[in-house]
Amino acid sequence: MLTVEQNERLTRVGPGTPCGELMRRYWIPIAPFARLLEEPVQKVRVLGEDLVLYRNTKGGLGLIGDRCLHRRVDMKYGIPDENGLRCPYHGWLYGATGACLERPMELANAQFNDKLKGYPVEELGGLVFAYLGPLPAPALPRWDLFVWPNAVRQIAINVLDCNWLQCQENTGDPTHSVWAHGHMFKYELDKKGAGGRSEDATHTIHSRLEMGVGIKELYAKQTQYGMEKGIVYSKELGAKEDRVRKHSTVIFPFYTQTGTAGAPRSEYQIRVPMDDTHTLHICYQVYAGPPGVEAPRQDVVPWYAPPTVDADGKPILDYVLAQDAIVWVAQGAIVDRSQEKLGRTDVPIVLLRRQLDEQITLVEQGKAPMNFFPGQSPDMLHGSGKPPDDWTAPDWAKRRLSIGQAYRQKYHKGFAIDDVDRYGPAVPLVQDLHRRIEEAEIKALEEA
Ligand code: FES
Ligand SMILES: [Fe+2]
Repeated sequence: MLTVEQNERLTRVGPGTPCGELMRRYWIPIAPFARLLEEPVQKVRVLGEDLVLYRNTKGGLGLIGDRCLHRRVDMKYGIPDENGLRCPYHGWLYGATGACLERPMELANAQFNDKLKGYPVEELGGLVFAYLGPLPAPALPRWDLFVWPNAVRQIAINVLDCNWLQCQENTGDPTHSVWAHGHMFKYELDKKGAGGRSEDATHTIHSRLEMGVGIKELYAKQTQYGMEKGIVYSKELGAKEDRVRKHSTVIFPFYTQTGTAGAPRSEYQIRVPMDDTHTLHICYQVYAGPPGVEAPRQDVVPWYAPPTVDADGKPILDYVLAQDAIVWVAQGAIVDRSQEKLGRTDVPIVLLRRQLDEQITLVEQGKAPMNFFPGQSPDMLHGSGKPPDDWTAPDWAKRRLSIGQAYRQKYHKGFAIDDVDRYGPAVPLVQDLHRRIEEAEIKALEEA
């Protein structure tokens, strides 16, 4: 548990707050680029600040304060111009730095130096990132899933009514899977009269329930870019074997990575603090083609907003992300950590909180926190600290069956049914990728 003061320190993200200042050292994803192609002017809320993101008519991006300096009209109704965004009321023009470049009906020589806020924005891997901290901005880190070649991608976006840290703490909590994605999933399917769905041996319920059997202890340790944690199993306690099961990779401060780059399916879950009580939850999903099979081309990475309630307004709970989201929100807007009773399964959460507190302290001391990259980012950064090797063996032809089977098992009979992916616009392309893999497999077998 934390004291009330410690809880405030780790959760509040507005300007001038300890965690807010830490967050202002990072590039923060604020919107899918594809959304800007549909609507070039959008209101965004990030770290407690109301801003307007726009794409000008030459394709340049800007992120500026949301209220026109003249008479406070919301710039979300602004009109994109060659050089910036114009207020719809009297046409004042603002550039990407927030400077007022033109006041059409004022005297041309009138001095006017006031400006709106203006923050740097950059696009990477189909996401628009913003930097709200002191300049010069660090490099935008090229985490591997954003830049992995030969892959199909899609981006799921949800706004959740709770503090970002509740979502991120979920990644320090491997055992929630047993209940939230095992027992609760089953309960939900049974209630709907869809219990038969869970009889399929590849349904996620089975592996989730098994995660709860034979647990000896949980472990957690710091890594170069975040932390590693997992579960130690004991045969003596009922597990199939003595083993250590590593859980998803944590990239500080708000990323969780499931699957490795190059895998049939991998994902970043990104917990973006919009303000103290709202989180922009981004699932950045990547389906890589194995060497020798070209993934279908995408001009832009599409986005989607997965449904969270049905036609009657009841929560939809028959996919994994929805199960996570409902328990995070059910903890309250900002969970009161002074009232918790932690147990042995919370060991990684304790480390996660300590790490966050230490990084906040570094910023308070005027030092650079973890994952702050001045200058240039390496071409590809691996959150686990090392390049993935599972799915990228150069002699994939030798492994073709296992790769093909893995794709089918992991996708056709797995995430496409059990998880949020099923709502995504890229599903037909992923299926096309699998068809290509199967064709390559058959060809390789014929030639063998
Ligand atoms: S209120 Fe924006 S230009 Fe007048
Ligand atoms: Fe979960």
